[in-house]
Order: sequence, then C-alpha cells, then structure tokens
Amino acid sequence: MKILVTGAAGYIGSHTLVELANAGYEFVVYDNLSNSSKESINRVSKIIGKDILFEQGDIRDTKRVQEVFEKYDIDWVIHFAGLKAVGESVEKPLEYYDNNVIGTIRLLEVMKEYNCKKIVFSSSATVYDEKSPYNYTPLRETDPTGDTTNPYGTSKYMIERILNDLYISDNEFKIVILRYFNPVGAYESGTIGEDPSGVPNNLMPYISQTAVGKREFLSVFGDDYDTKDGTGVRDYIHVVDLADAHVKAIDYINSDKFNANISIFNIGTGFGYSVLKMIKAYERASNKQVPYKIVPRRSGDIAVCYADSSLAKEVLGWEATRDLEAMCRDSWKWQSNNPDGYKEKKCNNAKK
Ligand code: NAD
Ligand code: WQD
Repeated sequence: MKILVTGAAGYIGSHTLVELANAGYEFVVYDNLSNSSKESINRVSKIIGKDILFEQGDIRDTKRVQEVFEKYDIDWVIHFAGLKAVGESVEKPLEYYDNNVIGTIRLLEVMKEYNCKKIVFSSSATVYDEKSPYNYTPLRETDPTGDTTNPYGTSKYMIERILNDLYISDNEFKIVILRYFNPVGAYESGTIGEDPSGVPNNLMPYISQTAVGKREFLSVFGDDYDTKDGTGVRDYIHVVDLADAHVKAIDYINSDKFNANISIFNIGTGFGYSVLKMIKAYERASNKQVPYKIVPRRSGDIAVCYADSSLAKEVLGWEATRDLEAMCRDSWKWQSNNPDGYKEKKCNNAKK
C-alpha cells in the first residue's frame, strides 16, 4: 500500500518524503512541476538511498490521476499540491481557485472512485480570522476562521469546508487537516530546501538571499506594530519538524485513536519571533551581515500570529523539537550551497 503525495517536488513535500521513507512508508509522487523542479526528487532519492516513483501530472487532470490510481495500490493521500503566493492570488484569483479548490475536488472525486478515503491536507494559519481578537494570544483550532483577506487564504478555507462536508456525506473518510504556521529551514544536509521562483515573498528566503549576496537589503515591513521591537511576530517552524507532523498524522489515521471530530491541528512551535530577531539570529548562524531598511507596513499583515499546538502534542504525539538556531543554520547551509536553488549546485564565494 502506498501514499500518493501530491506536490511533493515542492518545499514541504520534498522534506516530508524523507521523513516518510525514514518511517518505512512507501509513496508515489504526483506533481505538475509548476513551482518546482525534478531535481528536488533526485536529491531526496540520494538522501533516502533509493529510487522514487514519480508521476508528472496535474491534480485537475482526472484521466491522469485515474491512471496513477490504476497503476499503484494507493491507500492514503498527502495533498500538498497548490499555489501559495498570497500577492499573486490577489492578482489571479481565478487561477488560485481553479488550481487549489477545483484541483482538490477533482482529486477527491478520483479518490472516492477508487475507494481511497484517507487524506492529510496542507492548510494554513492564514484561515484564521485576521481581525480576530485572538491575535495577541496563541491561536487554537477552535478560534474563528473564514474571514480571510486574500484568495489564497480563502481557497484553503474553502477546501477545509469541502473536506468537512465530504466527511458528513461519507463517514468512511478519514481526514486530517494540518494548519501550518511559518515553515522555514531545510534538511540538515543542505541538499534540499526552499527554492522560490523570482523575488521571494516570505521573510526567511529573503533574509537568506540577502545574506548570500543575491539581494542588496531586506525591507522590514513596519516597525510600528504593538510588539516589543515594533516589527511583526510569527511562529516559525523548522520544515523537518513540519514534515514529521505528516508522518504522525498518517500514523494517527491508521490507529484506533483516530477520531473524526479531532482532525484539525495547528502545526507551529508556540513561540513568536519578530523580524528583527530573525535577522539577528540569521546573522549569527551565517556569520554574514543582513542589511535592512525599515519601510511601511505591507498591506494585509497583522502584528502577531503564533500557534497553540497542544492538541497536536496530545493527540498526534507531535511537537516541534528544532529551535531558531537550527532553523537559521540549516537554511544557511542550503542557501550557501545552492545560491540559485536547484539550478546550480555550488557557490564559490559563499561561506560553507
Ligand atoms: P511549493 O510551491 O514548494 O510546493 C507545491 C507543489 O505543488 C509544487 O511542487 C507545485 O509544482 C505543485 N503543484 C501546484 N499546483 C499543482 C497542480 N495543479 N497539480 C499538481 N501539482 C501542483 O509549496 P510548499 O511551500 O511546499 O507548500 C505545500 C503546501 O503547503 C501548499 O498547499 C501550500 O499552500 C501549503 N502551505 C505552505 C506554507 C508555506 O509557507 N510554505 C504555509 C502553509 C501552507
Ligand atoms: C513574516 C513576517 C512580514 C518579508 C505568509 C502567508 C501565509 C503562509 C506563510 C502559506 C511578517 C515580515 C516579510 C519581507 C518583512 N503561507 N516581512 N520583509 O505573512 O506571516 O505568512 O507565509 O500558507 O499564508 O500569508 O509570512 O514570511 O511573508 O512574513 O518584514 O521581505 O516578516 O511583514 O511580519 P506571513 P512572511
């Protein structure tokens, strides 16, 4: 029995493959490579010491997904495939709803057809209400959701609702929704990592590209928030800890403990770090300067967002174990060894 892992050539999926292999699970990767490169799969293959079953295709292509279900005995799906750039989703809402929402519906239809009814879905902290009074306290799974501010966030919220309705219609479905906070870092070998195309939107890849000399300076979006140093605070989580949460979710689905009423989990560390703290930590880990300028707030940003992940600890037996130092160290190892991501392997002037 195999796990179909959609979107596994991407950042979080590729790290999850390593943890799945370590736990003895077998899998097939399904990805259209719209935001990734096959090289990530080659690198994962080297880490785990065996070939990986890879099928290129789009989740919206029903015939192609059916072919994959015909070819392999698939028992579970871990569904990472999706578009994730918040700003781009505002410019291209139809593309985001088509890819993320329609894509998920097409995938679920084929799963149902082949009687495959176990799924772990990549959701996001972005589904929580942005204007929530809870923003200054750790977010809990029961906090209000749905008052999203961009089509990307709305697409994740819609998929959560669709999965919920699917379960109501068919109780055989076993669904786990993981709401990730801010994934950062890389596998400790530095051979796989985050490879954003173009100018990074997220803080950590922007910091790492500045440290390696690809960007002149980092723009810090606002220093007038109601936080200790005035900059935004987020719950950054090491991608390997996040990957491990997927293994725990699959274990949970397989266990007698599985309870459909407890199937949404926050995956964060429970600690919030400000932008300035992140810059300092990265400078320490990389031994490089990260020049920055304070600029106006980015529209749509909130001051503070961090997780209460106690439910994941209690039910899944999962908790984050890697600290900020490890996040920055591993990110730097990846960035300095692969300044152009998967396109080029080495950078001569980067400190190893
Ligand atoms: P990523 O872009 O690196 O990986 C997504 C993968 O999905 C890519 O390899 C892409 O080629 C593939 N893909 C996209 N649309 C597809 C389609 N229609 N058919 C087949 N493959 C398709 O992103 P990531 O950071 O690894 O994120 C993985 C998932 O986690 C996404 O669903 C994302 O929304 C979610 N998530 C990410 C973050 C984050 O900050 N990285 C936070 C919360 C949730
Ligand atoms: C973190 C902090 C910025 C860039 C986004 C999505 C969310 C999820 C994770 C997918 C904030 C500040 C950033 C920069 C900065 N993705 N910042 N300069 O906004 O918490 O969440 O990624 O699901 O849905 O919204 O993450 O990394 O963009 O920002 O000062 O160049 O860094 O203002 O305080 P965010 P981020």
